[in-house]
Amino acid sequence: APDSGRHRTVVPRRVAKEREAAVRIVRHHEYGPSRVLRTEQAEPPAHGPQDVLVRAAAIGVDHADVQRRLGTFPLGAPPLPYCPSTDVAGTVVEIGERVTGIEPGQRVVVWQAPDAYAEFVAAPAARVLTLPDGLGFAEATLLGSTGRVAVHLLQTARLTAGETVLVRAGAGAVGHIAVQAARALGAERVIATAGSPRKLDFVRSLGADAAVDHTRSDWPARVREAAGAEGVDVILDGVGGPRLLDDVRLLAPYGRLVCYGASGGDSEQPAVPLMDLMGMRQVTGFTMATMARGAPALVEEGVRLLVRLVTDGSVRPVIHERVPLDEAARAHDLLEQRVSMGRVVLVP
Ligand SMILES: NC(=O)c1ccc[n+]([C@@H]2O[C@H](COP(=O)([O-])OP(=O)(O)OC[C@H]3O[C@@H](n4cnc5c(N)ncnc54)[C@H](OP(=O)(O)O)[C@@H]3O)[C@@H](O)[C@H]2O)c1
Repeated sequence: APDSGRHRTVVPRRVAKEREAAVRIVRHHEYGPSRVLRTEQAEPPAHGPQDVLVRAAAIGVDHADVQRRLGTFPLGAPPLPYCPSTDVAGTVVEIGERVTGIEPGQRVVVWQAPDAYAEFVAAPAARVLTLPDGLGFAEATLLGSTGRVAVHLLQTARLTAGETVLVRAGAGAVGHIAVQAARALGAERVIATAGSPRKLDFVRSLGADAAVDHTRSDWPARVREAAGAEGVDVILDGVGGPRLLDDVRLLAPYGRLVCYGASGGDSEQPAVPLMDLMGMRQVTGFTMATMARGAPALVEEGVRLLVRLVTDGSVRPVIHERVPLDEAARAHDLLEQRVSMGRVVLVP
């Protein structure tokens, strides 16, 4: 079987024996439609002294995985062959000799595990969070980067109680957590956009006060109706594209727009006329990696906050479907065809 990267290294005998030397991994050797995803056999991943080895129970499927497979990811296409790096929940099987505070047998989620579409993942212990009791593995994948992004976006926007929040694509994996977290953190009015009647019902069921179809050209007017004449205090936009300018014009004085992705597929983003910001409006971008490097304390605070919101039930992670690992192509189709609501996970 073709093999590459981390999966080529020989692992300790005890591990290899338990897994009979070969494990399943899904990757693609070219960019293209979902059928380029292939299930292959590989040696189990090696783990170093500061790593943990985790038997995957649920693997989060991210929009970025789809864009990387297509070769259209805004930050660049990945090297081939490629196996996505994503959030994985499961059970610790082994720990490296320098790992402390984590034990084999513990239920954990690994944030952005490398070579994640696989039965086993190896990742630095620093990326591991132990799971609260009672939280299922599929739901727990959202404690990885996807749920964190939702909370970090609200931190970045410095949401304060009583404000109005607009979540674009509120039915997506990041969006559905953001809608609930905004409410839990004191937003007085939460408006969500989505692209189908089912998704609009879904965002209402999450607690959105208003749901607006963003496939209609008059969506900004409808958002303004729901928000009131002043406009929106905080806008979270992972859809991107030319309509970002509509966001800017919906901002209330002192409003903040946080751009964090381009799920709409437009890699070209519009220039924002400076005059549109004169009412003390702010536009900023967000990436998880930049925040992790530049503001680790804020990241820690966000993670604690997310765990609290999920544990006390104010944020309910929704699993759209648990798809067998071997059917990863179908899982990608659910995102690419804009069918999924909440999170899609792969189950080995
Ligand atoms: N900056 C960061 O660090 C960071 C981290 C994680 C994710 N992200 C980004 O956040 C965005 C959302 O990620 P996610 O995992 O929540 O994705 P998701 O679950 O697939 O949701 C994306 C949403 O985008 C909307 N959309 C609009 N045009 C689309 C199109 N042409 N194709 C597919 N979807 C379209 C869809 O909603 P409707 O059908 O309702 O329109 C869909 O629900 C992505 O752009 C991702 O790359 C950024």
